[in-house]
Amino acid sequence: MLSTYQLTAGYGAVPVLFDVEIEIRASESVAIIGANGAGKSTLVRTICGLLPTMAGCIEKEGRSIETLAAHGRAGLGIAVVLEGRHLFGELSLESNLRIAEAQGRKRKDVRFDFSFDDVLDLFPFMRARLDAPVGVFSGGEQQMVAIGRALLLKPDLLILDEPSTGLAPKVVREIVQVIQGLRRRGMSLLIIEQHVGVAAECSDRAYVLALGRVVDQLEPDRWHNRATTDDLAKAYLGG
Ligand SMILES: Nc1ncnc2c1ncn2[C@@H]1O[C@H](COP(=O)(O)OP(=O)(O)O)[C@@H](O)[C@H]1O
Ligand SMILES: [Mg+2]
Repeated sequence: MLSTYQLTAGYGAVPVLFDVEIEIRASESVAIIGANGAGKSTLVRTICGLLPTMAGCIEKEGRSIETLAAHGRAGLGIAVVLEGRHLFGELSLESNLRIAEAQGRKRKDVRFDFSFDDVLDLFPFMRARLDAPVGVFSGGEQQMVAIGRALLLKPDLLILDEPSTGLAPKVVREIVQVIQGLRRRGMSLLIIEQHVGVAAECSDRAYVLALGRVVDQLEPDRWHNRATTDDLAKAYLGG
C-alpha cells in the first residue's frame, strides 16, 4: 500500500528523519512508537506531503508520490488525522464534515465509501450537535470529528497521529473501537502512538523510531507479547 525508502526529511535544511524505511501492506495496521521528539509527526507530515522529502522516496502502490502536493496524495487515498486535529473551530460540525464530503466525492473507484450518514452512525453523538461549532466540543469529540472528516475523504490508507493522547480512558476505548472497526473492514492504517498498550491493540506490527531513525521493528508475535511491549515502553518511552 505504502512504502518509504531511505526517507530523509526535516525542517528547512535540517533533517530530523534519516533513511526511514517503513512499509504498510494492504489491509494492514502498522504502529509507529517512539519518545517525544523522535520524529513521528515529522514522518506523518512527510508522508502526506506537508513537508518536502529531502532524499529517498515514498511509494503508494508502486507509484512514486514524493513530488506530489498534499492534495494530490489525498486524491490517491491517503488521509491523515494530524496531531492537534486542525478542525475549523468556528464552523459547525456539519460544515466541517460537508467540506470533507465534497472533497471525497471527487475520488473515483474508492474501496471504502463512507457517506455523511455512515460517519453519523459511527459517532452517534454527532446527530444532535450538527449545528454546533466544533471549537466548543470536548477533546474526544474533536478527535472523532477529525476521524469522521478523514473518512469522508474515502481513504484506503488512514494515518492517525496520536489519536488517544490527552483523552480520558473511556474516550480512548471508544476511539479504539472505531479503529478496530476500520481494521475489520480492511482499511490500511498507520497509527502513531505514545501509549504502547493502545498501539498494540490497534495494530498488527510496529516500528520504533528514535532520534529520527527506525531502531526496531516488531513482527506480530513480539509486538503482541505483553513482556515485549513493557520492555519497549521502558527502553524508548521512559516507562
Ligand atoms: N516546525 C518545526 N521546525 C523545526 N523543527 C521542528 C519542527 N517540528 C518539529 N521539529 C523538530 O523535529 C524533531 C521531531 O519532532 P516531531 O516529529 O514532532 O516528533 P514526535 O512527533 O515524535 O514527538 C524534534 O527535534 C523537533 O524539535
Ligand atoms: Mg508528534
